[in-house]
Amino acid sequence: METLTEIIRFINFSFSYSGSNSPILKNINLLIEEGDFVLLVGPSGCGKSTLLRCINGLIPHLYNGVYEGEVIVDGEPVKNKSVNELATKVGFVFQNPENQIFMFSVEKDIVFGLENIGLDKTEIDDRLSWVLRALDIEHLRYKPPYELSDGQKQRVAIAGVLAMKPKILILDEPTSLLDPRTALEFISLLKELNRKFGLTIIAVEHRIDLLTNVANRMVVMDKGEIVFNGCLKDVIENKNLNLHGVNVPPVIALQNYLRNEGFIFDAFYLNVKEFSKEIKRRLLEID
Ligand SMILES: Nc1ncnc2c1ncn2[C@@H]1O[C@H](COP(=O)(O)OP(=O)(O)O)[C@@H](O)[C@H]1O
Ligand SMILES: [Mg+2]
Repeated sequence: METLTEIIRFINFSFSYSGSNSPILKNINLLIEEGDFVLLVGPSGCGKSTLLRCINGLIPHLYNGVYEGEVIVDGEPVKNKSVNELATKVGFVFQNPENQIFMFSVEKDIVFGLENIGLDKTEIDDRLSWVLRALDIEHLRYKPPYELSDGQKQRVAIAGVLAMKPKILILDEPTSLLDPRTALEFISLLKELNRKFGLTIIAVEHRIDLLTNVANRMVVMDKGEIVFNGCLKDVIENKNLNLHGVNVPPVIALQNYLRNEGFIFDAFYLNVKEFSKEIKRRLLEID
């Protein structure tokens, strides 16, 4: 059996931004293992983005507040590391890639981050060609950002982050500006990065169905607390997510409804294709 390695741990952690009178994150205990692909969900304002900021160190290094307990990333407390040091361990992809791409060409953009951490020229060239290949954006190398589509921009943003060779990638609603097809392509790219390179991924995403076949863990937050945390399939099947303001995908809602109506299914089907196969099988049985 594979041995699992801890990569992120929150221990009795609470945080409130300075000025806010109640804690935004309350008594968080969370363990994430290397290679996990975590889907983080919860109603707007519950603290998802704040939790991510605690992993990449923006909290406490850029945002002031009351910081209690501990957040450990790759064996060391986040509060003892600078944001720059953390940037080589934790890559952060924003909702809007415009916030992340700012140079005159894709190549310059990727190289900028690498020069910033003081790598030598050969290492920079190696990483640049690796990342252009890995993300299939070699043809975009000399393009200025304004000539890129939204999907391409999001890929370039990831390229810049991956070139730093982080162990962890965190994404805050990365598909919200993408059309459905581009969003799907983007998610399969994440799946590949997770499988191929063992990259630990934590993604905040409202469209749960996009990630049901990709993520292995699901963390549900409500009002600053973690209310569910476990194997994605288990959380989706057994927990009442609606109660916490989280919409389950229609295919799951339909199965919940049918079960309540007395239909019995041997398994829970996370995607439409599998579920319709089961329905077809049942219909053939009736004939
Ligand atoms: N920089 C900030 N200063 C003060 N309060 C903030 C700041 N950022 C977020 N908050 C508050 O923290 C709470 C959680 O916000 P956030 O983490 O952005 O939630 P989510 O990402 O789940 O929508 C909200 O009540 C929000 O108003
Ligand atoms: Mg947010």
